[in-house]
Amino acid sequence: MKFFIDTANLDQIREANELGILDGVTTNPSLMAKEGITGQENILNHYKAICAIVDGDVSAEVISTDFNGMVEEGERLAALHTNIVVKVPMTVDGVKAISHFTKKGIRTNCTLVFSSGQAILAAKAGATYLSPFIGRIDDSSWDGIELIEQIAEIYSIQGYETEILAASVRNPLHIVRSAQAGADVVTCPLSAIMGLFKHPLTDIGLAQFLADHKKANS
Ligand code: G3P
Repeated sequence: MKFFIDTANLDQIREANELGILDGVTTNPSLMAKEGITGQENILNHYKAICAIVDGDVSAEVISTDFNGMVEEGERLAALHTNIVVKVPMTVDGVKAISHFTKKGIRTNCTLVFSSGQAILAAKAGATYLSPFIGRIDDSSWDGIELIEQIAEIYSIQGYETEILAASVRNPLHIVRSAQAGADVVTCPLSAIMGLFKHPLTDIGLAQFLADHKKANS
């Protein structure tokens, strides 16, 4: 399973990249706004800065909601760097745009996915990645991981090549359960990645090893 970080914060992207396990980055308009990145020129430059840090796919989301706008914007984003993946919302125009980008060899990430039906549409359009929002599904008392399992089964039966990118990940358990459910990629905040390291027995065991070494060598 590939690990992407879900942020537009350059410090956090650097920190995750230094772990040596990072495969890419996803952003969205909310994450860009959170970092205070506004105005087209600044937004495009910020994507270039992210691509300069990480040697992996970087999802850049279109803001347009109509087909022509998405195509124009997506082609501009894709031209920024070979690692840019154009992120497109799961709408009627979005699916048309994904289909257009697929024919042109531009890679896409279909976002805001909340059902298996939507997952089938995105795969049919040739999306490179599919982003089911598991945290937001859990927030509405449905089971986000169950959706990943269902999509993984459908994609396997049908031989769809679209990669399942578990998104809206909130904690380390989401990462573990996404891996178990068959996600190809997980995109998560740095806090969720760092949470995977934690186990009290690791800390206790290391302290004991160091104490024993010190005693034996003093
Ligand atoms: O990858 C999608 C993600 O950014 C949404 O996460 O936590 O806002 O539901 P969240």
